[in-house]
Amino acid sequence: MADRFAIILAAGKGTRMKSPRPKVLHEIGGRTMLAWSVALAKDIGCKRSVVVVGPDMPALSEAAAKLVGAENVVVQHEQLGTANAVDAARGALASADGHAIVLYADTPLVPKEAGERAFGEIEKGASVCVLGFNATLPNRYGRLVTAADGSLSAIVEANDATEAQLAIPLANSGVMAAPVTLMFELLKEVKNDNAKGEFYLTDLVGLARGRKLKAAVALCEERDVQGVNSQVELAQVERVFQDGVRERMMTAGVTMPAPETVFFSHDTKVAAGVTIEPNVVFAGGVSVEGGAVIRAFSHLEGAKVGVGAFVGPYARLRPGAVIGKDAHIGNFVEVKNVTVGEGAKANHLSYLGDGEVGAGANIGAGTIFCNYDGFFKYRTVVGEGAFVGSNSSLVAPVTIGAGGYVGSGSVIVEDVAPDALAIARGRQAGKDGWAKAFRAEKSAAKKAGKKPDGAV
Ligand code: UD1
Ligand code: MG
Repeated sequence: MADRFAIILAAGKGTRMKSPRPKVLHEIGGRTMLAWSVALAKDIGCKRSVVVVGPDMPALSEAAAKLVGAENVVVQHEQLGTANAVDAARGALASADGHAIVLYADTPLVPKEAGERAFGEIEKGASVCVLGFNATLPNRYGRLVTAADGSLSAIVEANDATEAQLAIPLANSGVMAAPVTLMFELLKEVKNDNAKGEFYLTDLVGLARGRKLKAAVALCEERDVQGVNSQVELAQVERVFQDGVRERMMTAGVTMPAPETVFFSHDTKVAAGVTIEPNVVFAGGVSVEGGAVIRAFSHLEGAKVGVGAFVGPYARLRPGAVIGKDAHIGNFVEVKNVTVGEGAKANHLSYLGDGEVGAGANIGAGTIFCNYDGFFKYRTVVGEGAFVGSNSSLVAPVTIGAGGYVGSGSVIVEDVAPDALAIARGRQAGKDGWAKAFRAEKSAAKKAGKKPDGAV
C-alpha cells in the first residue's frame, strides 16, 4: 500500500468565533479541533501530517508544532482559497511519495472509516476522491455532479452553480484524497476566474477529468463533516460528539437513564456494566471499570474508578484519584492524587489530597488531608483498616498506621502507630446545673431591662 500523508487546513481566521483563541484550538470533547484532525490522520495511518496555518498565528503554530513537529507546520501567507492553502504544503511534501488526504481543521468529527473510504478509492485507481454527503440544507456547499456510473464529473461551488446544479443535494465535505505528485501537479493549473476570485481546490476534479482521469465520491453522513464557524456551531458539533459517545457507550453495555445529561471526553473509558446516573461530567483521562456506579452530579478528571466502586452523588475526582475495587466515595468528597484501597470508604464531606488510603479504611465525615503549607505539598498515608473519626485534620506529612484509630475532631500532626488510638483535641469539661443557673440570671436581667456591658 502506498504511504499516506495528510494536509490539514487551519489558516482560516475564524472571525465569526469572536474569540481571542484561534478557531481550531477550541475544543470538542476536551480536545482541540486541530488535535482531532491530527488524530484522524494518525488513525488512518498517515506517515506525516502537514498543518497549514495563517500568518501571525503564533499560538496556533506552536500548538500545531507540538502535534506534528515544527517541520510540518507551513504558512499560507494570503488567504487566496483552498487550492492555494493546500499548495502551501508543496515544499513540506516535496519528497513525499504516496497518497494525500486534505482535511479541514474546523471539521473535527470525520470518522476513521470515511477517511479510509477516500484513500480506498485512490488505491482502487481513482485520481481524485472527495467525501460527499447528502445535505439537508445544501445552500453554501459545493455540489457534486455525478455521472451515470456514479463517478464524479465536477464540483460546482454554490456561487458558480446553475439553478439545476443548486438542486443537487449531494454536497462536498471538503475532504479530498489524491496521489501527492498528481495533486501538486494539478494545483499548478488551478485559476481563480470564478465568482469569489479564489483558487478552488475543488477545481482539481475538473482538471483530472480533463486528463481523462477518474474522479470518485466516497459517501459519509452529514453529521460527520459538520464544520465549525461560530460558537453556536461549536456547541452543535459538541452535541454530535456527545450523542455519538453516549450511543456507543450504551450499545457497549453502559447503563445511563439520562444520557443527554452525561458529558464525556474524547478519551473516556467506561466498561460494560457501569451505571452512570444523571448530570455527570467526565473531563479528560477517566476510566471506569465494570460494575461501578457513578452517581448523580459528580465530576471526574484524570481518575480511575475500580470494579464495583461507588462514586457520588456530588463527588469530585481530580487527577490521580485511583478508587479501588468496591470503595465508596460519597457526597461532597474531593479526591486528588490519592489511591483509595479496596473497600475503603470516604462517604461524606472530605478532602483527600496527595496520599493513600489503605484497603478497608474508613474516613469519617469532614476529614481533611492538610496537604499544602502554602509552598509545598505533602502526603498523607492512612493504613489498611484504619478509622479516622469525623471532622479530623490530618496535617501532612503524616501516617496513620494500619488499624489505627483517630478520635473525632482531632488535628493530627504526628504519625499514629498501627492499632493505636490518637486523640488530639481539647478535653471535655462539665459543670452540673450551670446552664439552668445561666438562663435564670440572663432572663432576670432582660426582664429588668439591664443590658450587660458590651451588649448591643
Ligand atoms: C469549501 C469547498 C466546498 C465545500 C465546503 C465544505 C472549495 C473551493 N470549496 O467551501 O466545495 O462544500 O468547503 O465546508 O474548496 N482555508 C484556508 N485558506 C484559504 C481558504 C480556506 O486555510 O485560503 C481553510 C478554511 O480555514 C477552512 C477550509 O479551508 O477550514 C475551507 O475553506 P472555506 O472558505 O470555508 O471554504 P468554503 O467556501 O466553505
Ligand atoms: Mg466553509
